[in-house]
Amino acid sequence: MPTVEVVRRMLPSHANPAGTVFGGEILAACDEAAGIAAGRHARARVATAKIDAMEFLEPAQIGDVLTCKAAVNAVFGSSMEVGVRVEAENTLTGDVRHTNSAYFVMVALDEDAKPMDVPDLEVSGEDALRRQREAEARNEARRRG
Ligand SMILES: CC(C)(COP(=O)(O)OP(=O)(O)OC[C@H]1O[C@@H](n2cnc3c(N)ncnc32)[C@H](O)[C@@H]1OP(=O)(O)O)[C@@H](O)C(=O)NCCC(=O)NCCS
Repeated sequence: MPTVEVVRRMLPSHANPAGTVFGGEILAACDEAAGIAAGRHARARVATAKIDAMEFLEPAQIGDVLTCKAAVNAVFGSSMEVGVRVEAENTLTGDVRHTNSAYFVMVALDEDAKPMDVPDLEVSGEDALRRQREAEARNEARRRG
């Protein structure tokens, strides 16, 4: 599945009181990337059902360029798991840091806003197969509660 990239420059209006990037800003960019990835796969409207394991590994700085990379890891029925990885780049130095990772569960909706099944994912390559296996295991764990 091709990766979707949402790229945003972090401006002073995106700061939290500590002067680094507000987490909700990063979450919104990730949600946008996950929604595009899921919507392209489903060719339908999608809703975010769950944000799972959002990791804030280190702060992003004002002035950084954030890139949110999203790809569908696995399809279950009407729901899909989308993996998102965020990198913050200091464009003055070229330094790139992995700041966040998350899994989004997105649900495809039909014209009546009811969940609808989506096409199977065509997976090839060792990495993609591993991500699919791991996503299926996480889905089982989510369903067990
Ligand atoms: C997500 C939503 C569409 C699910 O609708 P629903 O009528 O509860 O649907 P179902 O119980 O039939 O579940 C549909 C699928 O979603 C999955 N799902 C529903 N809630 C979930 C949750 N909290 N976590 C993970 N998966 C979930 C189900 O497992 C099922 O998956 P499957 O079809 O792959 O087996 C509905 O709860 C909703 O509209 N929530 C609000 C979404 C929203 O406002 N998001 C923010 C803005 S986009």
